Amino acid sequence: MSADRLEELRRRRERLLAMGGPERVRRQHEAGKLTARERLDLLLDPGSFVELDPFVEPRSREFGLDRVEAPADGVVTGHGTIDGRPVHVFSQDFTVLGGSLGEGHAAKICKVLDLAVRAGTPVVGLNDSGGARIQEGVASLGGYAEIFLRNTLASGVIPQISAIMGPCAGGAVYSPAITDFTIMVRGGAYMFVTGPQVVRAVTREDVSFEALGGADVHAERSGVAHFVAADDEECLLLIRRLLGFLPPNNLDDPPRRPPGDDPGREDPALDELVPDDPTRPYDMREVITRVVDDGELLEVHAAYARNLIVGFARLHGRSVGVVAQQPAVLAGALDIDAAVKGARFVRFCDAFNLPLVTFVDVPGFLPGVAQEHGGIIRHGAKLLYAYCEATVPKLTVITRKAYGGAYDVMASKHIRADLNLAWPTAEIAVMGPEGAIDIIFRRELAEAPDPEARRRELVADYRARFAHPYIAAAHGYIDDVIAPRETRRRLIAALEVLHRKREPTPRRKHGNIPL
Ligand code: HXC
Repeated sequence: MSADRLEELRRRRERLLAMGGPERVRRQHEAGKLTARERLDLLLDPGSFVELDPFVEPRSREFGLDRVEAPADGVVTGHGTIDGRPVHVFSQDFTVLGGSLGEGHAAKICKVLDLAVRAGTPVVGLNDSGGARIQEGVASLGGYAEIFLRNTLASGVIPQISAIMGPCAGGAVYSPAITDFTIMVRGGAYMFVTGPQVVRAVTREDVSFEALGGADVHAERSGVAHFVAADDEECLLLIRRLLGFLPPNNLDDPPRRPPGDDPGREDPALDELVPDDPTRPYDMREVITRVVDDGELLEVHAAYARNLIVGFARLHGRSVGVVAQQPAVLAGALDIDAAVKGARFVRFCDAFNLPLVTFVDVPGFLPGVAQEHGGIIRHGAKLLYAYCEATVPKLTVITRKAYGGAYDVMASKHIRADLNLAWPTAEIAVMGPEGAIDIIFRRELAEAPDPEARRRELVADYRARFAHPYIAAAHGYIDDVIAPRETRRRLIAALEVLHRKREPTPRRKHGNIPL
């Protein structure tokens, strides 16, 4: 081969690395953002990135596209490793035509999605784009649709993670929305279907980009974002950490960390954690972190529906999905947002062979007109359905209240949980003492000479008779009542026998989860 040919290749590669040119790269940095390639350098193990399709160019030459250079067509794609495990990636390059998505750009993303499914690796998309490339018209829209289709077909087959590190507007939001996890960078990232200008024109509401679709809004109010990162670097490190809990695909086991934390470790502080007064809150996060390996819990949706905690942890090195009421928020009652949050997480864990560990302290579903009219019936059914259909190992610990329908929902024995433990503080009944007495003894209380004194007496009697775990245990609905300090040891022992659990289900196209 002549030296010219190699020189030509070198020049072309160099051109790629210059991206949209020094001025646009400077603007990207000034906005507090890394470039597409710098992001991949931080995300992947050093030297592991293998680029694909670097020489793809815009397929259309309309509206001046013939006059612009568009290295890599505005998206860097390929594969690499994270902690030595393969992963496919795409990273949109805002310095090239604003990272806008045309036909070739979309085809590159589709190619890595297809490869990821075939190879059985997770896929990570770093989004930073002005949306559909205006000059390429309907081919851009078609490109998005091809991505949506692949995201959908890959759902439940490989983990899909979307980082939003810049603009993500219009229909473009629906690719991240279909993927399993969305991480937004505070300040630089925003997501909305219609931007502030359109909102102003249609509804006359005056709203900024940040207030309409910034990271905190989506993490706290809409639930669109599962995680928020302070900057690009934190976002990329978070993706690495998240993938450390996940299997590469639905057929492989999750990775097992060499266990450092003693599986037999007992924690006496757990015995004191639940207050004697059943109306007093405590922090369920403390229960979880005292039980799992090294106190590490990666909370998902931490700022959304805080009455339910969901997240990843490890028990003796095995990844598990944790679902738990948070008695410190809304007394841990289940409401619409918590049900939807929990259902999506349970289904993710079930799809990817992650055992579910559920900590229960639930007074019931949240009462109220807003909840009923908002559809707590159909939304609550999502969580129930998700737990019922899940076939991964299901381990449940009732720490305090398990009342009413919420008892059934929260991985009860009746819906195929494998191990149901209760602490001595557990109260398992149709409803709490006060509510029960008001219903059963309404007439007697109305006629009593001192209704309040009689009511107190009846409540105390009900509490002594029903507000404990031993009736459920006598039925076998609770496998054992344990001292809280033993929780870790008992959960780990159960996982050791259950991690190969298989639960055959009849063939069907798919169930009809109440969406
Ligand atoms: C082509 C685009 C583009 C687009 C930005 N650029 N968006 N080129 N198609 N959609 C180009 C700009 O011309 C500019 O080129 C460069 O990218 C950077 O853009 P700026 O406007 O200079 O950057 P900034 O001020 O940071 O503003 C970013 C922005 C703005 C807010 C994203 O560019 C913008 O509003 N773009 C249009 C967004 C949009 O409406 N997209 C369509 C959404 S609908 P130069 O050469 O000057 O550097 C959609 C439908 C999806 O996406 C369909 C799915 C079904």
